[in-house]
Amino acid sequence: MTEFYDRLEENFRNSFEPPAPSEDTMDPWGETRIVGKGIPRVDAYERVSGKALFTYDVILPEMVYGAILRCPHAHAMVKRIDTSAAEKMPGVVAVITGSTPGADISWYGAQSKLFDPHCRHQGEEVAAVAAQTPYQAWDAAKAIKVEYEELPFVVDEDSALKPGAPEIHPGGNAAGKPRPQTRGDVEKGFVEADIVLEETFRTPVQMHTTIETHGSVVKWDGEKITVWDSSQGVYDAGLMSFARTMNMPYNNVRFLCPYVGGAFGSKLELGKYTIIAALLSRKASRPVKLMLTREETMLCVGNRPNAKMTVKAGVKKDGTLTALQLTCVFTPGAYSSMAFVGFLFQELYKCPNVMVLESGIYTNAGRSRAFRAPGFPTAAWSLEQMMDMLAEKLNMDPVEFRLKNFTEISPSRRVPYSSAGLKDCIIEGAKKFGWSEAKATKTESGHIKRGVGMAAGLWMMGSGGPPYTAEVRMFADGGVTVKTGAMDLGTGTKTTAAMVAAEELGIPVENIRMINADTAITPYASSSGGSMTLASLAPAVRRGAWLVKRQIFGWAAEILGVTADDLEIRDKSIVSRSNPSKKKTLEEIFRTKGVLDVIAIGNREANPAGKAVMPFSAQFAEVEVNTKTGEVKVVRLVGANDSGRVVNLKSYENQVYGGMTQGLGYALTEKRVMDPQTGKMCNTNLHDYKVPTALDVPVRPEVVPVDLKDNECNNVGCKGLGEPGHVPTAAAIANAIYNAIGVRPTDGPVDNRMILELLSRKRRG
Ligand code: MOS
Repeated sequence: MTEFYDRLEENFRNSFEPPAPSEDTMDPWGETRIVGKGIPRVDAYERVSGKALFTYDVILPEMVYGAILRCPHAHAMVKRIDTSAAEKMPGVVAVITGSTPGADISWYGAQSKLFDPHCRHQGEEVAAVAAQTPYQAWDAAKAIKVEYEELPFVVDEDSALKPGAPEIHPGGNAAGKPRPQTRGDVEKGFVEADIVLEETFRTPVQMHTTIETHGSVVKWDGEKITVWDSSQGVYDAGLMSFARTMNMPYNNVRFLCPYVGGAFGSKLELGKYTIIAALLSRKASRPVKLMLTREETMLCVGNRPNAKMTVKAGVKKDGTLTALQLTCVFTPGAYSSMAFVGFLFQELYKCPNVMVLESGIYTNAGRSRAFRAPGFPTAAWSLEQMMDMLAEKLNMDPVEFRLKNFTEISPSRRVPYSSAGLKDCIIEGAKKFGWSEAKATKTESGHIKRGVGMAAGLWMMGSGGPPYTAEVRMFADGGVTVKTGAMDLGTGTKTTAAMVAAEELGIPVENIRMINADTAITPYASSSGGSMTLASLAPAVRRGAWLVKRQIFGWAAEILGVTADDLEIRDKSIVSRSNPSKKKTLEEIFRTKGVLDVIAIGNREANPAGKAVMPFSAQFAEVEVNTKTGEVKVVRLVGANDSGRVVNLKSYENQVYGGMTQGLGYALTEKRVMDPQTGKMCNTNLHDYKVPTALDVPVRPEVVPVDLKDNECNNVGCKGLGEPGHVPTAAAIANAIYNAIGVRPTDGPVDNRMILELLSRKRRG
C-alpha cells in the first residue's frame, strides 16, 4: 500500500513534465446529454436482487473452506506447533504452518513473515487448515496445539517509549526516525504574529468495518491460479502483488473482483489470507474459500491510526496566518505504516511558515492501513478546530477567516491549481446552510444546546493519472462493450464509465455493457484508491470511445462524401448533421470495410504540466447536545465539494453522504478499545464498535456540487470525490459542539461520556 502511494507520488511528479505532443487531441465537452445527470446504477438490479457475485458468493465444484489459527496473546513467541490431532479431525484436507514448504514468506517489508513465530499482536497468523465445511475448519484450527512463550506487551504509545518497555522490534519502539518537513521559518512566523495559540488534540483508532469481510476464493489449474478476491484492485493489489509474493509469472495469475462489499483502504494491499488460501489449495488439490470473520478483520486487516497532535498557530490581527506547527505522534500498530497527517497543514491555507513533524510508535496492536483519505480527517480534526479557535480570538467569522487565507496557488507544490474550488465550496456551502443566520440565532430549549460549525479540507491525490486503460468495442448493431480493469468499490464506477462512453459516442447508456475487474479479460487499471478511479478511468474511456468513433466516422466520411466532423451516430446509423439524408447504417459501413466490430484502447493522458490537481471540500454541521445525557445529535450536514465536473449526480451525492456518515462516526462514536491488562482489543464486533446507523445521521444531508468546469485536469474534467467528501466532517461537528456548549472537544470521539466530562470540566472552571 505504501507502494501504491509511492506510485501516486511518482505520477504527481510526472505531471509537471509536458505531456507528449499529440496531433489528435480531444476538445473538452461543452453541453452534455448524459454526463452530469443522476442516473441509477447500471448494475442496480444485480445489487438489489442479490444476483451480484461478491467473493463471499463464489462457490466452486469440490471447494473446501479455510480457517486461520491466530495467536490469542498480545505478544508471544511460538515455541512448538503440533498439528497431528488437527490432521485427523473430520473433513480436514490440509494443514499448513510456517514450516510447510513454500510458506516461508516475508511480510510487511521484511518486518514479519506469513506465519511469524514472533507474534507481535493478538490475532497474528500461526497456522491454517482447510476442511469440507467452515465449521470443520474452525474446529480443526482449534485442535492445533501451540506452545507459546508469552512476552510482556505494550498497547499504549506513552508506555511504549518508557525505558524498559517491551521491544516489539529490536532497537526499541520508535517507528523510524521522524523527519521534520518545513517551509519558511515557523519561529519567525510566531514572532510576526499578533496572536499565537497552542492546543493538543487526540483522535482515536478507527476501524474500516467493511460490510463484506476480507477474503479470497482460489483455484489452481496446474501452474495457473484463479483468485476471486474482495479487493480494491485486481492488478496492483491482486495479480502483481500475488505473482511477486509467490514468484510466479504474471500470466499464470488471474484475479477477479466483480463486486466488493466495502473496502475504504483496507483492501488496497494483498492479504495474508489470499496467500494462505493458495497454499492450502495447492496442498489439498481443491479450490479453497477463505473469508475472514468480523473479529479477524478487526484484529488483522488495518485501521486508521490514532494521533496526538500538538498544534501551534500564529495569526496577525487582520486574520493572516503567519505560522503553523504540527507535532504528531501516532501508532501504526506492530508494523510500520504511514500517517500523512502533516500534508493538510502544508497545503490547505496560504501560510508562509509551516513545520510538521510526525513520528510513529510501535505497540502490540494490529497494523494500520490506508483508510479513506489517510491522515486527512485526523489532520482536519486539529487544524480546523485550531482555525475556529483563532477566528474566535480574532473576533472574525470562521468562514471569513478561512477565505482570508485561501490560495489559488498550491502552497507546497508552488504551482497553480487546475481549479481552486475551496473558496466556492466555502461560499456556496455557507449559502446552502444559511450560515450567517444560523450563527446569529441561538435557540436553546432547556438542556438541549444547539450549535453550528464548519470546516474545510482537500485531498492530496484525486487527480488520477496514467497508466490507466479502457477498451471500447462497438458492434455493427451499435452495441458497445467497455472493458476496464477497474473494480467498482461501490462508488458506481461501472455506471459513470458507461455514461462517459455513451456521452462520447452519442448512444444511450442502455446500449453499453460493462465488463470489469478480471485480469484475464480487462486491460490494466491501477487499484481503486486515493479517489483516483473516476479521474483516471473516465478520461481513458472517453479516449477509447473517441478513437472508435473516429475510426468509424473516417470510413463513413469516405463512403458518404462528407467530412468526419459533420457526422454523428443516430440510432444504428451514421448520419450527416448538415444533410440528414446522407446516412448509412453501421452494418453497411462495417460490411463495406469487412469488419464486424471496432475496438480501441483508450489510454489515460498525462496530467497537465505546471498545475496541481486537487479536490476541495467545505462542510457545515448543526448539532443538538443534550447536556443531561451527553448525547450529540447531528441534525444537519451540508457538504460542498469541488471535484471538477459532476459525472453522475446520484453517485456524487452518495459519495458525500457516505463520507459524511463515516466522518460522523469518527467524530462521535468510533474507537478501537485496547485492554491494557490483557493487551487485547475489547470491541471486535459491530455491537461494541459503534458505526453510525440510519438513526444517527441527519434525515437529509445536503450536497452542493461546485462545478467549476476544470477543462485542464483531464479530458473529462473530473477530480476525485470519495475521500475529500470525508475529510472535514468530524472537524465541522467538533466546531459545532464547541458552539453549542462553549467547551472545546479536543479529544475524539466525542461520545456521551466525553460530553459530560467536558461539561463538568467547564462547571469546575
Ligand atoms: Mo483509499 S484509503 O486510498 O482506498
